Formats: sequence, C-alpha cells, structure tokens
Amino acid sequence: MEKIQVENNGVLSTISKADIEALKPEGASALAKLIDGTGAGNDFLGWVKLPSSTPASLLDDINATAAQLRDLCEVVVAIGIGGSYLGAKAVIEALSNSFAAYRNEGTKVLFAGQNIGEDYLAELQDYLAGKKFGIIVISKSGTTTEPAIAFRILKEQLEKELGREEANKRIVAITDAKRGALRSLATTEGYKTYVIDDNVGGRFSVLSPVGLLPIAVAGYDIHALIKGAADMEAATLSGACDAAMTYALTRNALYRAGKKIEILVNYNPKLHFFGEWWKQLYGESEGKDHKGIFPAAVDNTTDLHSMGQWIQDGERTIFETVITVAKAERELRIPFDEANLDGLNYIAGKRIDEVNKMAELGTRIAHIDGGVPNLTITLPALSEYCLGSLIYFFEAACGISGYILDVNPFNQPGVEDYKRNMFALLEKPGYEKETEAIRAKL
Ligand code: PA5
Repeated sequence: MEKIQVENNGVLSTISKADIEALKPEGASALAKLIDGTGAGNDFLGWVKLPSSTPASLLDDINATAAQLRDLCEVVVAIGIGGSYLGAKAVIEALSNSFAAYRNEGTKVLFAGQNIGEDYLAELQDYLAGKKFGIIVISKSGTTTEPAIAFRILKEQLEKELGREEANKRIVAITDAKRGALRSLATTEGYKTYVIDDNVGGRFSVLSPVGLLPIAVAGYDIHALIKGAADMEAATLSGACDAAMTYALTRNALYRAGKKIEILVNYNPKLHFFGEWWKQLYGESEGKDHKGIFPAAVDNTTDLHSMGQWIQDGERTIFETVITVAKAERELRIPFDEANLDGLNYIAGKRIDEVNKMAELGTRIAHIDGGVPNLTITLPALSEYCLGSLIYFFEAACGISGYILDVNPFNQPGVEDYKRNMFALLEKPGYEKETEAIRAKL
C-alpha cells in the first residue's frame, strides 16, 4: 500500500506528546464505537465498511453506464449539492489536467444544483444549447431545493431538444431506494438509477454511486479509487495504520488547548476542491451543541499573498493541517537565462516542485515560529488509489474526532433552519404558520 503519513512534530511547541497520549483512551473508545456501532448516529455507519463491501459488479455496472453516457454526450451535468456534489468535484479536479478537458479529452463533467444562481443556470443553458448533453441527478432525500430547481430546468431543456424518450436515456438518478420525489419521478420516467443506502449520510457518500458515477464519466479508475479506500479501511479498522487516529487525537488536543480553527492547506492547485469537500465533512459533522473546530482552507502559495498575513500574525487560535503531495507527476525545470534580469539564475535547473517544496517548508517553519501548530499529511501521489485512501482516512478520522468531541458526527440538524425560513418566505404549502411568524420579524 502507498502509505499516507501523518507527522505531528510541528504541534509540540503548543501541546506536548503527553497531551496527545492522554486522549488515547477516548480515541480507542471512539474507534470501537465506529466498529461495533454503539455510538450516537449509529444508523449512519454504512460508510465504515463501504469500500470493502462494494462489489466489483457494481463498479462494472457504473463503468458501463458511464461509457453509455460518454457515447451519447459531449457534456454530462452532475446535479447535486453538499455531499451529493463535493466529493466527485474534489476527485475529478484533483485528477484532471488543469487546462484540457478530462482524461483523453473525453466527455466534460459540469456541476449544477450546488447554488441558486440565476445567471449560473442561464449561462449553463446557453452553454448546453446545441450540445449533446446528459444529466446525473443526485439527491439522497430527493427533495433538496437547489438540485430540484436545476434538474427541472435542464430536464426541460433536454426534453425540448430531443423529446422525452431520448432525453430519458441520457438521465441517471442517484437517490434513496424507495422514498422521495426523485425516486417517484425516476420510476415514472424509467431513468437508470443507483441507490444511496439509508445508512450512508450525504457527506460520507463519495465512495458510493454518488461520487463514483461522475468520476467514472470523467474517465477515472473507480476500481483503483475503491481499492485505495478499502486498503485504508482495513489498515485503520485493524489498527495496522494509526494515521487517522493520530490526526484525530492531535486536532482534539489542539482544540482543548484553545486552537479553535483548523486551516487545511494545500500546495497544489488541483486540491482546492478537496479542501471544500473536507470543510463540509468536518463542519457538518462536528459543528454542533455550540462546539467544534471551525474548518477553513487555503490554497498555497496563492493564499500566502492574501491570507498569509493573517495566518502568520493574526489571532493565535488557529492550527494548520498541510496536505503535501510527495511528487509532481510532470517534470519542468527553471531555465537558465544569460541576462538574468529577473535574478532567478540561482534556481536555474531546479524543478518547479523543488521550489514549491521549499516554499512549503519555509512557510511551515515561519508559522510554527509564529505560534501556529502544524500537522502534515503526506500523500504519495495524486492518483485514484491515493485519493481513495485519503478520503477514507479523513472520513475515519472525522468519525473518531466527532466522538472524542462528544457530538453525533452523523446528523446535521442545523442545516434545517435556513430551509424552514426559506420555505416560509416562499410560502410553500404546509408552512403557513412559519410564514406568518417570519413576516412578523420583517
Ligand atoms: O451531508 C449531508 O447529508 C448534506 O450535506 C447533504 O449531502 C446535502 O444537503 C444534499 O442532500 P440531498 O442529497 O438529500 O439532496
């Protein structure tokens, strides 16, 4: 197994090894709860053994559907929000060429339903006009407003262009096995469907068809992704790999020492959306009962020229977790220049990645010196296998960490409040009392 490594020496100027060790019994008990299902939210533990229990036949079926969509479509729009969008977006961005279309210049995967932007949707409609496109609509509940609006609009466009029968061949729905408006519509229209199991919550669903189908359409190897996750699952649950445990213990020890904000830092622009996925995973899992580390993310070195000042010199309530990718896939060296007007000849001949790594190391030392504790997670490469391992690593650490914090990491009661107000303001049938109450506040 290409191993993910967690290094936490950079926190020792703030907390001691003994502070981390002291949390070991709580960590062990948290892991046991995940394995034997005795903790809060234990009806949402389907993700714990999801990689090892995913049959190869399901992956083959998803690959076959992806191939059909690719045959029929130049563009596939994946519609979903939160956990029904961020994992696929994170993996596709991490694996893709920054400028070309997806692998082999194949079918492009775009995303919608992750906002209520009128201009965004109108511009997407313009972009799709006259193109061969398909839709993967993803909603576990099948009732979420943002994806439902996007789906209604794009489904209408597709049906107008091709007629209902042809449109239905280009629509795949991923939703609950039985419940929800999307399930009923899929049954009526005869869409190809995949199921999100009841016991897999949205933000833990990237390794289910929710993430796998868009990733497969983009041309990436979902067998390798699941293999990486399954290997990490086996190593974490057996105790053979303590990376997730070390991360969970260290961040909780820092939190107890007053470090309330964790910044996930990358030095590779392809990892921007991995930070977005991670923010949802940890924010929705831990931010409850008026507790929880606030998850933030920056992209370096870009953000060293904006947020760098705050991190170096602002309030000392933060710590950093750096994801470092051991090696760049491509090799590019800085050329020698006779005139040397830019003064760069001192690094001529060096690889760009070597310069990046020195920026990373220099920043790490400066931040530790400045009172920002630092954890480093080393990823061997940006490959499907390694990303699968990293996803499972973060999911397992999140479950352990949430139980150490003593919250239910698998619910999200707080996200209902804005929905209630929005429905009341939009006068949704059934919300009459709420409409009256909210009007009194305006
Ligand atoms: O993690 C979660 O459960 C949420 O963020 C959901 O993923 C998000 O709200 C989308 O829900 P649904 O898939 O039901 O449309």
